Amino acid sequence: QKLQINLEQIEKGGYDHFMLKEIHEQPKAIQDTYRGRLLREQAIIKMSGVEDNMKRFLNAKRFIIVACGTSWHAGLVAEYIFEDLARIPVEVEYASEFRYRNPVISEDDVVIAISQSGETADTLAAIKLAKSKGAFVFGVCNVVGSSIARETDAGAYTHAGPEIGVASTKAFTTQITVLTLMALRLARAKGTISSSDYRQHLLELEMIPSKVERALLSDPLIEEIAYKYKDSRNCLYLGRGYNFPVALEGALKLKEISYIHAEGYPAAEMKHGPIALIDENMPIIVIATKKGHYEKVVSNIQEIKSRKGRIIGIVTEGDVQVKELADHVIEVPESSESLSPLITTIPLQLLSYHIAVLLGKNVDQPRNLAKSVTVE
Ligand code: G6P
Repeated sequence: QKLQINLEQIEKGGYDHFMLKEIHEQPKAIQDTYRGRLLREQAIIKMSGVEDNMKRFLNAKRFIIVACGTSWHAGLVAEYIFEDLARIPVEVEYASEFRYRNPVISEDDVVIAISQSGETADTLAAIKLAKSKGAFVFGVCNVVGSSIARETDAGAYTHAGPEIGVASTKAFTTQITVLTLMALRLARAKGTISSSDYRQHLLELEMIPSKVERALLSDPLIEEIAYKYKDSRNCLYLGRGYNFPVALEGALKLKEISYIHAEGYPAAEMKHGPIALIDENMPIIVIATKKGHYEKVVSNIQEIKSRKGRIIGIVTEGDVQVKELADHVIEVPESSESLSPLITTIPLQLLSYHIAVLLGKNVDQPRNLAKSVTVE
């Protein structure tokens, strides 16, 4: 009998799909991203691409972030981080819109391009445009030596390792990790963060991999929840502050691989439209962690409940208030608000994964989508 070795099976490392493998790789991927850059005992962040260009960063009047898809969502999280910690005004643009808009760009601008593949045509074109106007362009890419990595003036790799699943997972969390490191380094240089806050952030960042590990333990519970909602036609994702972009990303993940229509919204915007959609058939995933507008999100949850919406709450371990109101809660470890996207995004990735698997969809290669979009 011939021994057949299925190469793909080996590459999946015992997981059924690349996406699941990559979701589970995140604790290590995040660690690989800050390894050698975060030197906590010395309270130093070492990123040569930032250090060598410190003047450009510190003189910048604003940062413009350009990206597409999931990378654009990482950019939205970065907007909160840069503004909050380093007090630098940030604009986040879809690369495709930016390039055709005759945007106002000057030599005082720093443009940050985020791209897993480093090959996305729209992002590449946006970079070329920004460079032609004299802006300093910094790349955050995963693929080493990719076109965007080569085209930018400087950059920082995410070191997430190869991402095969079309729906991006570990690229997203490692992009946020790199951008957080940058924001902390710049905040320190600008003096917009106190020494003790800075040290606290470094400490908390180092605790993220083990917290992500803990968040992954909810996998069996999430699979059960997925089973209950797999036949939904629509789904709403709500979050506030740092977790608003996470809501967008959660909705994108569900759309991409399960083909269920999903929308992400800032929780407070619910009353300006989405609330009209809520009935007993509408699952609503609400990110309601303790740090960050908790009470306000709880009152959103009450509004959903009074309209009979089905609530799946992403809550901090030990939560009682949301537990009483929601149909289901998925607990995640507590963290500072600014680092919470790295944790709250995990159950959303798993939820979309399990729904897609239960529906028999091609998780790693969803219809009509490509891992890297090198044409317009
Ligand atoms: C495609 C992929 C997405 C990705 C987007 C941007 O649409 O399917 O997962 O987020 O491109 O790709 P990039 O490589 O630039 O991050």
